[in-house]
Amino acid sequence: MQSLEIIRHEHRNLGAVLYTLDQLVDQIESGKVPRFEVFHGLLTYLDRFLDRYHHPKEDQYLFPALRHRAPELDAVIGELEQQHHEGERLFIDVLKALSAYEFAGATEFAAFRDAVYRYTRFERDHALREEREVMPVAEEKLNAEDWAPIDAAFLDNRDPMFGSAPSALFAKLHSDIVSLVPAPVGLGAQWKKS
Ligand SMILES: [Fe+2]
Ligand SMILES: [Fe+2]
Repeated sequence: MQSLEIIRHEHRNLGAVLYTLDQLVDQIESGKVPRFEVFHGLLTYLDRFLDRYHHPKEDQYLFPALRHRAPELDAVIGELEQQHHEGERLFIDVLKALSAYEFAGATEFAAFRDAVYRYTRFERDHALREEREVMPVAEEKLNAEDWAPIDAAFLDNRDPMFGSAPSALFAKLHSDIVSLVPAPVGLGAQWKKS
């Protein structure tokens, strides 16, 4: 059941990225100049990792095995699967709002801020629900044979930013976020006003 540890680890990284998005929005609200390239980088990370690896592997490997061994979770798993789709829809709302904000400026900020908050709250709640309602049952009910393909799938995840070999672009994004966002994610440096 290595995959449970991987999932928890991925949720922590996801939490750091969601926290960063919220913080960057809050900083703009208090007068900082937006760094659009950082938003684009974070959203690209979420698309490349969450929607291409993490969620599909839950859908294809963890959830079916769990449905088989714990049919009482069927309704909860159905809702979590729906939330993967809903999360993608909210993500697209953020992209659209970012595009409008970058194009039109301050008049579009409130809509962008609200879209970010809706998305980050939603994804946080989703991950928390998996950890509280699904993973403890998986730990209890799946056997070694069940875990083998799930572990293999999650071990094959390639995290472009927090993984062992980030590309130069994602390494730069990571160093940007640690300098822009206070602890616990970053190093506490102030984002310069300009
Ligand atoms: Fe999920
Ligand atoms: Fe998850």
